[in-house]
Amino acid sequence: MDSIYSTAKVCPSEECWSLEPELTEIMATSRSYKRLLYAWEGWHNASGVPLRSLYSEFVELSNKASRMDGVNDTGAYWRSWYESPTFEQDLENLFKQLEPLYQNLHAFVRRKLYNYYGPKYINLKGPIPAHLLGNMWSQTWNNIYNMMIPFPDKSNVDVTDTMGYNATHMFRVAEEFFTSLGLLKMPPEFWDKAMLEKPTDGREVVCHASAWDFYNRKDFRIKQCTTVTMEQLFTVHHEMGHVEYYLQYKEQPVSFRRGANPGFHEAVGDVLSLSVSTPKHLHTIGLLEQLTDDAESDINYLLKMALEKIAFLPFGYLIDQWRWGVFSGRTPPERYNADWWYLRTKYQGICPPTRRTEEHFDAGAKYHIPGNTPYIRYFVSFILQFQFHEKLCQEAGHTGPLHKCDIYRSKEAGAVLEKVLKAGSSKPWTEVLQEALGTNRMDASPLMSYFEPVTTWLQEQNAKMGETLGWPDFNWVPPVPEGYPEDIGKNACKLFLLGQNKKNYLMYLDKKSKASP
Ligand SMILES: *[C@@H]1O[C@H](CO)[C@@H](O)[C@H](O)[C@H]1NC(C)=O
Ligand SMILES: [Zn+2]
Repeated sequence: MDSIYSTAKVCPSEECWSLEPELTEIMATSRSYKRLLYAWEGWHNASGVPLRSLYSEFVELSNKASRMDGVNDTGAYWRSWYESPTFEQDLENLFKQLEPLYQNLHAFVRRKLYNYYGPKYINLKGPIPAHLLGNMWSQTWNNIYNMMIPFPDKSNVDVTDTMGYNATHMFRVAEEFFTSLGLLKMPPEFWDKAMLEKPTDGREVVCHASAWDFYNRKDFRIKQCTTVTMEQLFTVHHEMGHVEYYLQYKEQPVSFRRGANPGFHEAVGDVLSLSVSTPKHLHTIGLLEQLTDDAESDINYLLKMALEKIAFLPFGYLIDQWRWGVFSGRTPPERYNADWWYLRTKYQGICPPTRRTEEHFDAGAKYHIPGNTPYIRYFVSFILQFQFHEKLCQEAGHTGPLHKCDIYRSKEAGAVLEKVLKAGSSKPWTEVLQEALGTNRMDASPLMSYFEPVTTWLQEQNAKMGETLGWPDFNWVPPVPEGYPEDIGKNACKLFLLGQNKKNYLMYLDKKSKASP
């Protein structure tokens, strides 16, 4: 499954497009409804369809293994890592608390897309077509920030066009932030052996960014097909956060060389990115020439951050709702795609832009499904990272609004983080959290306080425009544009029905890597 996903391509002619970099780039930068649809449908057919029958077989085998371990199904096994009988209810409560923020962002973005694509393709009371949000899975929306800059005359917080870095340079910049906090630098083996760019010799690789602990206390690597964009600079920090965790807990016994819970592991690099992305920091490291500091620039910045962090919340929440249902049998194979789109519409307020049926397998078009990486960790991380950010900012002596804080060079902040990382999984996560933050619970208030100015601003904009929050026309689906070659994607998927060998995929059941969301 992993290799079908990783080698899937969309071939409009002789030329073929991989997910990374071509399709990702089209999704991020094209503003043509048809071209985006072509890329979206092509990818979903090429990667998802050939996985469908393998996936149901995999689910059966995985459940069988879990039952032999004395757990009801694989979903229950995954949830057990969080060591809490109220885990699912806690998540639901957090999501409900954050839903109004999401709905305000959704309504604002939908209006901007309506202004651009027009009433034929955008329904102001309906879900948003899934291919227009700058990302193959609509999981983060920061790539369409330039369609919705609140105050265009103020400083531009996306520095992609002016970075002038190469891949190695991006990793060095990230490393320097870690060491500025008094944390560890990457070892020589890392710089020798990591794969920081997509090979140019025609070799197929799994491009989805990941970080690897070889469990020999020496070898730690990242594998990433890095492209020079601001979004990827944050992915670099994300992956390096995993390696920093590996390095900090390497003296623990093997069974404690894990995150306090999986969400902790995903949060480390992102916590640093919350500082790196501030205009103040970008200015400090020479990526942003002009620094304007006023309420309007703040809104620009916070909207961009909301497109990354708030937009992700329902996505991070729903992936494992779907998968827990699949593992428990609540979602049988004949409802794989229907239940997938039910959750995508219910939580994200998006809809498929062409007809999708049970011949398709759109969940399979997302790396973590064929790669079998659990996903709720990312939702947990998006809550925790703001709790950590708030605490580290206090330690760094920051005063004023949370979104302006940059913990760069604060050894005090670094020391708090170091202690968490060193503990690995040697203590329950609630204890680790208690010692670091003085609370033993996940809490959405730091996230809400970070976004408070832009939440208020979005509410005002939406009230002014009389927006409908949510998507009461949930059965609405967009029309297929005139002249669209509806069946073109079907050719693309034939190429990838590769003969799969079971040994290969059983190997992946146990894989130990940490991926980017
Ligand atoms: C990448 O950038 C660094 C720092 O600017 C430079 O030293 C190095 O030579 C560059 N590498 C390549 C392959 O261009
Ligand atoms: Zn990760």
